[in-house]
Amino acid sequence: MKLLHIDTSIQVTGSLSREMSAATVERLKQEIPGLELQYRDLALEPLRHLTGRVFAAHAQDVDTGDLSETERNDIIESKSALQDFQAADIVVLGVPLYNYSVPSTLRAWIDRIVVFGKTFRYAGPNQPIGLAVGKRVIVALARGGYYAEGSAGAEHEHAETYLRSVFSLIGINNIEFIIAEGVAVGPEFRETALRGALDAIQALAA
Ligand SMILES: Cc1cc2nc3c(=O)[nH]c(=O)nc-3n(C[C@H](O)[C@H](O)[C@H](O)COP(=O)(O)O)c2cc1C
Repeated sequence: MKLLHIDTSIQVTGSLSREMSAATVERLKQEIPGLELQYRDLALEPLRHLTGRVFAAHAQDVDTGDLSETERNDIIESKSALQDFQAADIVVLGVPLYNYSVPSTLRAWIDRIVVFGKTFRYAGPNQPIGLAVGKRVIVALARGGYYAEGSAGAEHEHAETYLRSVFSLIGINNIEFIIAEGVAVGPEFRETALRGALDAIQALAA
């Protein structure tokens, strides 16, 4: 079984989402013998923003023939990001809430893996069919404020809601979240939120 572990926090040290995603991977390693791990740090090694020419080559298999070396390398990066995702049985994402959404590096990665004809297709108008079914996706999400359902902040939360939408498009409807929130309110709030998240991680089943 293969696990793809991705971190996205710009904080390389002291990051809660990194600590939570690492604890999630450790937990699953205990539960699943022989788990094969692959790691990617999108903050340290980001993908470029997708361009029209790279999109044509990657998503539509159109080679315009006059691609630059940078574009050719970018296409290789795209294909390898997609292959790594397709090969994974489990995906663990460490995600901080940035400006009410996900880090732009994660958006850039999503642009390479949510691809018409490869990870979803249409059966008819408004009938997308996900082609990446059967994967388990766990998101370790750290948020500075409070956004839980029913809270005043809920309407501004576009990380959890966005990830649920975009993964459901490609056939993954049961995405799991481990959330530490209110972490910017003060050190004691951060500590309590982290402890709660680590407890939830210890309770994760294989
Ligand atoms: C660039 C940036 C933008 C942020 N935007 C938000 C935000 O919109 N809402 C929020 O509640 N917290 C926000 N925060 C706080 C982070 O969500 C919080 O510090 C979280 O712990 C970051 O994850 P990390 O600890 O893994 O780095 C922001 C932090 C940074 C650095």
